[in-house]
Amino acid sequence: MSAPLSFSGKVVVVTGAGGGLGKEYALAFGERGASVVVNDLGGDIKGGGKSSAAADKVVEEIKAKGGKAVANYDSVEDGEKVIQTALDAFGRIDILVNNAGILRDRSFARTSDLDWDLIHRVHLRGSFLVTRAAWNHMKNQNFGRIIMTSSAAGIYGNFGQANYSAAKLGILGLANTLAIEGNKYNIHCNTIAPTAGSRLTQTVMPPDLLESLKAEYVAPLVLWLCHEECQENGSLFEVGAGWIGKLRWERTQGSIVRHKNQSMSPEEVREKWDQICDFTNATKPANIQDSLQTLVEVLSQVEAGEGLEANPTSALASASGINPTEAVGIVLPQMTFSYTHMHCILYALGVGMSTKEPDHLRFLYEGHEDFSCLPTFGVIPAQASMFEGGLSSLPGINFDPTKLLHGEQYLELYKPLPTSGTLTSKATVADILDKGSGAVLLLDVHTYNNQELVCYNQFSVFIVGAGGFGGKRSSDKAVPTVPAPNRAPDAVIVDETSRDQAALYRLSGDWNPLHIDPSFAVMGGFKTPILHGLCSFGFAARHVLKHFAGNDVSRFKSIKVRFVKPVLPGQSLQTEMWKEGNRIHLLCKVKESGAVVLSGAYIDLYADPGASVVTAPAQTGGLQSDLVFAEIGRRIKDLGAELVKKVNGIFGWEITKGGKMAAQWTIDLKTGNGALHKGPYTGKADVTFTVADEDFMDVVMGKLNPQKAFFAGKLKVRGNIMMSQKLEMILKDYAKL
Ligand code: NAI
Repeated sequence: MSAPLSFSGKVVVVTGAGGGLGKEYALAFGERGASVVVNDLGGDIKGGGKSSAAADKVVEEIKAKGGKAVANYDSVEDGEKVIQTALDAFGRIDILVNNAGILRDRSFARTSDLDWDLIHRVHLRGSFLVTRAAWNHMKNQNFGRIIMTSSAAGIYGNFGQANYSAAKLGILGLANTLAIEGNKYNIHCNTIAPTAGSRLTQTVMPPDLLESLKAEYVAPLVLWLCHEECQENGSLFEVGAGWIGKLRWERTQGSIVRHKNQSMSPEEVREKWDQICDFTNATKPANIQDSLQTLVEVLSQVEAGEGLEANPTSALASASGINPTEAVGIVLPQMTFSYTHMHCILYALGVGMSTKEPDHLRFLYEGHEDFSCLPTFGVIPAQASMFEGGLSSLPGINFDPTKLLHGEQYLELYKPLPTSGTLTSKATVADILDKGSGAVLLLDVHTYNNQELVCYNQFSVFIVGAGGFGGKRSSDKAVPTVPAPNRAPDAVIVDETSRDQAALYRLSGDWNPLHIDPSFAVMGGFKTPILHGLCSFGFAARHVLKHFAGNDVSRFKSIKVRFVKPVLPGQSLQTEMWKEGNRIHLLCKVKESGAVVLSGAYIDLYADPGASVVTAPAQTGGLQSDLVFAEIGRRIKDLGAELVKKVNGIFGWEITKGGKMAAQWTIDLKTGNGALHKGPYTGKADVTFTVADEDFMDVVMGKLNPQKAFFAGKLKVRGNIMMSQKLEMILKDYAKL
């Protein structure tokens, strides 16, 4: 077990802490070193009356156990006073648990104005007022943890609780926005829907159940969510009886019910009803951008004449189950991956790091001053798209998952991976190739830390027996392998894998039984379980990182490998390396048999050995857009002040080439006399465009209408879309370039 979670030095306010759940939280925080403000109005269950006794008793109990606590008897409707008590007694406020609550259950028809208003005043408005009073203090100290208390009645509805359900779901909406606004100040806001025996539930639960659903089974979740180590933000949990589960939204694929230039009719809605409500391949939008993105995509599909009669079955569809016209371009449901230092360490152990080597400690010990996450960990958040993303149930891709082989892998990092956090991955079917004996599927996965692109993976998977559908044999979307130079290697590292290497590696998220279950391995045609290809990949990458980059993760740019033959756990891996500039070619063999395991492989390193943070992806070279940006730079020098006045905005640009990010630019027409610089904006750009180098040129040369480019999906826009209209002022007149 890792170190116990301490709250020493933290100041916590728990509202409604005179009894029930709140009391349990207050005691638990007090026991773990926090200074606690025990707020409770001491009224009755319906919101009537007032007494100081409830809060006082809890304060006494905390103090009796050696803890620090003060009482506050104000209603949560006096939020300022509640928080002021924390400031007066302890000088700060770090953690706020909005918990106070009352009930006024009535069937809807009998709900009075007072029933409605009182519930809203205590639950929703009370949570708002106490939180608002604490907010700026948390913001200024760049730390805050807030818990909102919702209810299953709000999430699912419950007879006789219209007032309470509405307020409780209102609280969730409040929390969702606070999580977004607070994130950059390290203020995290999460919501719980608890179930526990208390005076609130004694009328609805039988006594036995009431007794066994203890409030102490809820408190540990609240404490973890409020700890500084916990990075969870904007989430909703159901909790009770010792069980905790996380909730999220799910959305059907839906259906476009509109023709271009035609009005929509309710009859068409009726016609499409089954499809609108069909949860097969449901997506899980994680934020409002995901939601809006769908609408933008719908607009472009309708504009392109798709929609009602869309999805004609292509003539290419064949018995192979692969139909590229349907499948290519499909975006898989977005995946979210949350991790801590523990996952980084587990992964490092999985790819053979050991405390036997002193320089491995920075990957194995979270307390190390240079504690880092191995760059190849970048495949882990992305691989969820393959395993959980429902790849085999997408339109145009029907195959037997047991026929799938991992052929090649490309990974590029745009900055070192954080050692903990929540990353989201967006996967797109980039292309499908017909190799005769099988099909090759290229899956591009972009992984983001909030809005920032952290890494790009290209999974290349071979589907045995799925070829012969009349498709092309090669693709310009594929990142190619490169053969090693024809000379003796510059360095060779030999490393043993352990008997349990696959058993250890799989804990990082690849649960395929082929790597652990002997009978499954036999079914797959192997004598014994084999090592994961991505495990050998991790071994080889760390060999290069150690030998050529002194284990400096910020120097790692990208890796490409082809998986040739399997490795058995316990065999030794021999990595042969050739240095050619910043590219390290590599070949990986099983030492005992000489069999080549990884071929055509290379790792590109960033050049500057001193650089600790890579701010921009390196140029792939020869971008036409460079010319335009150079001219924009000159124009800003001449007319900067005037443009800043007119435009007042910051524009981010992501220029891609061959589907990969090739350059980033920032045009700052908001600060000073304006500026152009290469790389992403350190703050938040007002609007960010993603466009291919050649499309960018077509737009500036006037060959491609920007609006059309947008609707055709060639120009992607994030942020304040209205701001893009002002771009004309800087982009016009480039045809002369
Ligand atoms: P409880 O009645 O034991 O505790 C609520 C406390 O809030 C009481 O001590 C009460 O005096 C205090 N309070 C009420 N109005 C106040 C105000 N205006 N200002 C300050 N304090 C006030 O109830 P329980 O069960 O511990 O509930 C805690 C929270 O959990 C509530 O928000 C409740 O809606 C929620 N909840 C509880 C569930 C359960 O199964 N117990 C189920 C779903 C939600």
